[in-house]
Amino acid sequence: MIMKKYAIATLILLSACTPRLGKTSVDKLVDAMTVEEKVRTVVGTFTDIATPPPVAPGVKNRADYPGSGENTVVSRNQVPGAAGDGYAVPRLGIPAVVYADGPAGVRIDPRRDGDEATYFCTAFPSGTLLASSWDPEAVEQVGEAIGDEAHRYGVDILLAPGMNLQRNPLTGRNFEYYSEDPLVAGITAASYIKGVQSQGVGTSVKHFAANNQELYRNGINEIISERALRELYFRGFELAVKEAQPWTVMSSYNKINGVYASEDRWLLTDILRNEWGFDGFVMSDWFGADDPVEQMKAGNDLLMPGTPYQIEELLEAVKSGALPMDVLDTNVKRILQIVAKTPRAQGIVYKNDPDLEAHAAVSRRIAAEGMVLLHNDGVLPLKTGGKVALFGNFGYDTQPGGSGSGYVNRAYKVTLDKGLEDAGFQLVAPLAEAYRNHISAEKALLPEEYFWVVPTASEKKVSIDEVRAAARETDLAVVTIGRMSGEGGDLSAAEGDYFLSAEEKQLLKDVRSNFKKVVVVLNTGAPLELTGVAELSDAILLAWLPGQEAGHAITDILSGAVNPSGKLPVSLASHYSDIPSSRNFGVSEGELNVVRYEEDLMVGYRYFTTAGVRPLYPFGFGLSYTTFEYSGFRFDGKDFVLTVKNTGPVPGREVVQIYVEKPALSEGRPVRELCAYGKTDVIDPGSSQEIRIQALRPSIDPLAQWTTEGWKRASGIYRFHAAASSEDLRVSINLTL
Ligand code: GLC
Repeated sequence: MIMKKYAIATLILLSACTPRLGKTSVDKLVDAMTVEEKVRTVVGTFTDIATPPPVAPGVKNRADYPGSGENTVVSRNQVPGAAGDGYAVPRLGIPAVVYADGPAGVRIDPRRDGDEATYFCTAFPSGTLLASSWDPEAVEQVGEAIGDEAHRYGVDILLAPGMNLQRNPLTGRNFEYYSEDPLVAGITAASYIKGVQSQGVGTSVKHFAANNQELYRNGINEIISERALRELYFRGFELAVKEAQPWTVMSSYNKINGVYASEDRWLLTDILRNEWGFDGFVMSDWFGADDPVEQMKAGNDLLMPGTPYQIEELLEAVKSGALPMDVLDTNVKRILQIVAKTPRAQGIVYKNDPDLEAHAAVSRRIAAEGMVLLHNDGVLPLKTGGKVALFGNFGYDTQPGGSGSGYVNRAYKVTLDKGLEDAGFQLVAPLAEAYRNHISAEKALLPEEYFWVVPTASEKKVSIDEVRAAARETDLAVVTIGRMSGEGGDLSAAEGDYFLSAEEKQLLKDVRSNFKKVVVVLNTGAPLELTGVAELSDAILLAWLPGQEAGHAITDILSGAVNPSGKLPVSLASHYSDIPSSRNFGVSEGELNVVRYEEDLMVGYRYFTTAGVRPLYPFGFGLSYTTFEYSGFRFDGKDFVLTVKNTGPVPGREVVQIYVEKPALSEGRPVRELCAYGKTDVIDPGSSQEIRIQALRPSIDPLAQWTTEGWKRASGIYRFHAAASSEDLRVSINLTL
């Protein structure tokens, strides 16, 4: 009996002095860990590899590493379909946390073997649509809903938001990103991060930094001036990190000025931590980069999803001293500090019970709020109940989101034909039937859709007779033009991709010549070249990739149930060749896998307003069903203040942009830059709202400019414009700083 008591006493004593995550400091935890436990903590626990990233010429392919073949599976995800798991040390109370994608919603498997339950998630609108709302509160609500689903499904850290600058319209992942402007990108990302993290789960703001193309993404060497890095490619991340404190940052695959981002100490430690105060941990992108020891030393704390090769390399490096123990300890501590905050470490039991119906309503509302009305000669809004001749595959196979890690396994999607019918419109039946039969016949021959590949049918050919037959039933045509976007590949400046195809142009001509009213709906993840479309239509609605409630949200706008208030977060050029980076996209002339950002600061409206080249639809542009007048613009020492009056027929919201012209401290600076923005409440016809727009943010100084001595503010006269777009300056004031 005494022995038993003795044994129990010893056990209690032992457990009392064995450090436990959350109970004792991470310093003590790390002291109690073996070298193997430390090394395994900085490497994910592998998962089956479904999507090897495309490698650049001359870069080692993952399969080349010893011991980590195409499908290294050690631990099945605790949450099937999640992107990766951390390493558990149960004796120290350290759980294996779960990492899952993505920006438009949680991506996990919707079904599990031997389990009749389903695990669908809500497909929210893609990133560019969120940014097009210019509405931080709305974006935060989306973040809250996604964070809630992550929490309820047992995901500890969501691998989002993606926020790389949209340097060029051909980038394959533009749909996941926000804007050509770092302030819009930063504020949108910060709002998203706050929303997700308010639910008790973490985020991973990505991909830091300058992941601006898919071609050779995990090896391309980007040559970028420090000024362009600081003012464009880092700026949005700086704002998001300082204002929203993401739990983690995901480093990007690419090299910047010859150094892999995930091996770059200047980037991940000197700037991210020592300058910006980031206090979470950095993870690599999946199978990103090359040298695990260099990644550790740079401050890339976690290697995801992890491979056996990396563990061997690091154990070897600790033995040889190539990896100093204090570096390894630092990275382990950073990871443990965040792991301690996760629901799993808090012992929270998740119930797999999100309110998908409520979240679908959020998805529909923000989708309508982020769509951009580019052209309307009065044909919109449509009177419900009318008959619509609906043309274009994407009217019947509307795309909610892009493919790749940012895909969402949703329960359903509402296509535009369904959305129109649900709102009381009739469709021209023979036309609808022809499209539906064409699409289902072709899809029957295509592989099943899954996250990496979303097959779409070839665009149905429409004869002039079919157009004429439909025109005998109604005078209203809706023509949908669609493009899928996805991770792993860029668009090409070719017909049927960035340019309209010959068939699309012909269809527009045939429809124009047979219908009195023609509405074009763009269901696309990236800007297209739209020159000539306005001349062949009475309205153009840019619906982007609007999430699973796509058909309902598009119809909400077409029917006037929602008055459009979205504005472009990216310029739509008249011609691809007008875009400076078009001369250096993918690889630069004569280079193998080097791309030179020769355009420097001249990205998007920064170029168009400075060079006096008119884009087709400018950055910040978007129509409403009403009109607004600006007056009384002033700066009150803290905020910009302005009165916005609704001078039109219906209630609406207005996005007010403030651009600043700064005295230049160096050559090649843009004539004006966005320095603040705000969105009014709903203003009734004839009423006004005095809007106050925060002038200076706690995180970045939009009046500063990067010089060889760092951030500087020029002294002199600054000219501020309150504007409805980058080309539509309404009222201006001068301030001497
Ligand atoms: C992918 C993407 C990244 C994603 C990760 C996990 O390759 O680049 O955005 O979060 O791997 O799927």
